[in-house]
Amino acid sequence: MERIGILTGGGDCPGLNAVIRAAVRTALLADWEVIGFRNGWRGIIENEFEILDSRAVSGILPKGGTILGTSRTNPYKSPKGVEKIKDTFREHNLIGLIAIGGEDTLGAANKLSKEGLPVVGVPKTIDNDLNCTDYTFGFDTALNVAMECIDRLHSTAESHNRVMVVEIMGRHAGWIALEAGLAGGADVILIPEVPVDIDEVCSLIKKRHSRGKTFSIVAVAEGAQLNHQDVKMEEKLDQFGHVRLGGIGNTLGEMIEKKTGFETRVTVLGHIQRGGSPTAFDRVLGTRFGVKAVELIKAKKFGRMASLQGNKIIDVPLEDAVGVLKTVPKDYYDMAKVFFG
Ligand code: F6P
Repeated sequence: MERIGILTGGGDCPGLNAVIRAAVRTALLADWEVIGFRNGWRGIIENEFEILDSRAVSGILPKGGTILGTSRTNPYKSPKGVEKIKDTFREHNLIGLIAIGGEDTLGAANKLSKEGLPVVGVPKTIDNDLNCTDYTFGFDTALNVAMECIDRLHSTAESHNRVMVVEIMGRHAGWIALEAGLAGGADVILIPEVPVDIDEVCSLIKKRHSRGKTFSIVAVAEGAQLNHQDVKMEEKLDQFGHVRLGGIGNTLGEMIEKKTGFETRVTVLGHIQRGGSPTAFDRVLGTRFGVKAVELIKAKKFGRMASLQGNKIIDVPLEDAVGVLKTVPKDYYDMAKVFFG
């Protein structure tokens, strides 16, 4: 019997289980066995796995997170990581591996495929910052959560005549903050791609209040800069070299209150955006990606990634998808400015 492996790496994301289920169901139809590796690259390095049969993936479609667990392990930073992965491939006689992840996980998948391992990728991240796909699954769910939170903040902001700062996830790209801000009618949006001066933010808020408005909503991506500086939670780097972001909301809130005199409150959405059940869009996208990933292995199209372009699922070289992030274009941010202040 032919055997393939599957793993989920990086931050978890709504829709991961939809991909796993779809890949397993498609593989079983071809009479293949599927091995699920535990906790991202760590599982294939340590050979920690479970057999995924149809019972194992039954009922998981609406579940958030990943039934396989995940980690930010980098095979290229783990002792003998790549050698151990090759051993695991040999031990199970794997004809292919599906790596589901974002820039980091798929960056490692790309390198492993260049070393001759039969790896294909599925693009995942709530940040929507992977290149060569119009959308990653997980983004739509996070976006809708953030939008609903902005809606809720409106009523309390209005009742108390306050400025509400809402900190939204997005390490290098402001897709969630920008689109949740647009959909939720935020009055100022700050994203990592476009540095904005604090005085500019305050004058937009003052301008709005001078028109008789008594409250404002400011959406800020965690990776945005304040006066050209990152706001970090801690200096320690993970295995892919990322700092832990967070805290920009509070810093910004304090500055706004001081400079405008308007009472300000801060809400940090955090992991609420990443947890919970995926939207229909993410379930369907994850499902289509999972089917495509198995088809790629069948066709021996290794080193490729499933991708959404328009309404079509196609495949692209992993190499093109990683390396450079898909950030918010300046003209999109400029369009959103119509609604600022
Ligand atoms: O990459 C997705 C993401 O949710 C980012 O938006 C965020 O900065 C990061 O993961 C948080 O990671 P962790 O859960 O490891 O703190």
